Amino acid sequence: MSIILITGASSGIGAELAKIAAQAGHSIAICARRLDKLQAIQQEIVNAGGTCLAMQVDVSKPDQAKACVEQTITHFGGLDILVNNAGRGNLASVEDTTPEQLQSIFGVNVFSLWYMTAPALKHMKEKGSGHIINIASVAGTMGFPFNSAYVSAKHAVMGFTASLRAELAGSHIHATAVCPDGVITEWAAVTEGGPIGNLFMAGIKESRSIAKEQGLSLAPLASMLSAKDAAQIIYEASIQPPTHDVYTHAGTHERAISVAQNRSEAEKSMMALYLGMQKAYGQQS
Ligand SMILES: NC(=O)c1ccc[n+]([C@@H]2O[C@H](COP(=O)([O-])OP(=O)(O)OC[C@H]3O[C@@H](n4cnc5c(N)ncnc54)[C@H](OP(=O)(O)O)[C@@H]3O)[C@@H](O)[C@H]2O)c1
Repeated sequence: MSIILITGASSGIGAELAKIAAQAGHSIAICARRLDKLQAIQQEIVNAGGTCLAMQVDVSKPDQAKACVEQTITHFGGLDILVNNAGRGNLASVEDTTPEQLQSIFGVNVFSLWYMTAPALKHMKEKGSGHIINIASVAGTMGFPFNSAYVSAKHAVMGFTASLRAELAGSHIHATAVCPDGVITEWAAVTEGGPIGNLFMAGIKESRSIAKEQGLSLAPLASMLSAKDAAQIIYEASIQPPTHDVYTHAGTHERAISVAQNRSEAEKSMMALYLGMQKAYGQQS
């Protein structure tokens, strides 16, 4: 059985992953900023016979992140798997994105990876094994409009994971990026600058008439997953380190490959959605 630390586990994918992993008998440490939510999840896990440490942590703060990793190791006597799951999106055109929003989005989605991973690696290198899982997104593989800070941050998660894997090559410490598409959680409603979920929905609606008028095809969008289903896939990938990054939704790995092979063709297939979202963004601002 493993000792697993999950960031951003007060809701959504992180909370479901904590429950699934605890149910399987692993020792779980969870962190986020909302302590009341964390404590409710901790209680649920303990009531079901599991073991859970809950810590109030802002992962974008280096001292808090380091203390969280160290507290986990002290409490359980080690750390086997770190899941860097905490993340937040944004809603703003490039010119409307403020320096504060950039700092905040990169703080939680990107800078936290170094703050959490460095102290975890120190321990994993001493014991000679471990697994770092970074929750990226399909937004880490291609562009989406009006959340460029988030999209850029998730591309950075992919770069961080690839670099980490290169640094750890030949060791027994693994690094995996996970790229979910849409998952039903709070995420799309709590994005900084306004709910990006509403803009996507309005953009999809607009894209139908735009596609008809301009003879474009509709964007190839994956079906949404429940947080529980996404967490189950991530759990399986964390326990058995895969040989490749993980795409949780059907069709999204193929789409990432097609973006890598011919970005302009892949972007053309999204054109109706991009134009629909432009129209919707113009209407809301
Ligand atoms: N939902 C999707 O469609 C989707 C798609 C692709 C990728 N993802 C990624 O999946 C991950 C999980 O998101 P989710 O969908 O489960 O959304 P969620 O329910 O909003 O969960 C995000 C978690 O991150 C935590 N968090 C945010 N800022 C934090 C900070 N500064 N320090 C510590 N924790 C922080 C939140 O807790 P507190 O507010 O309590 O701190 C919450 O527990 C994120 O990285 C997200 O970008 C989601």
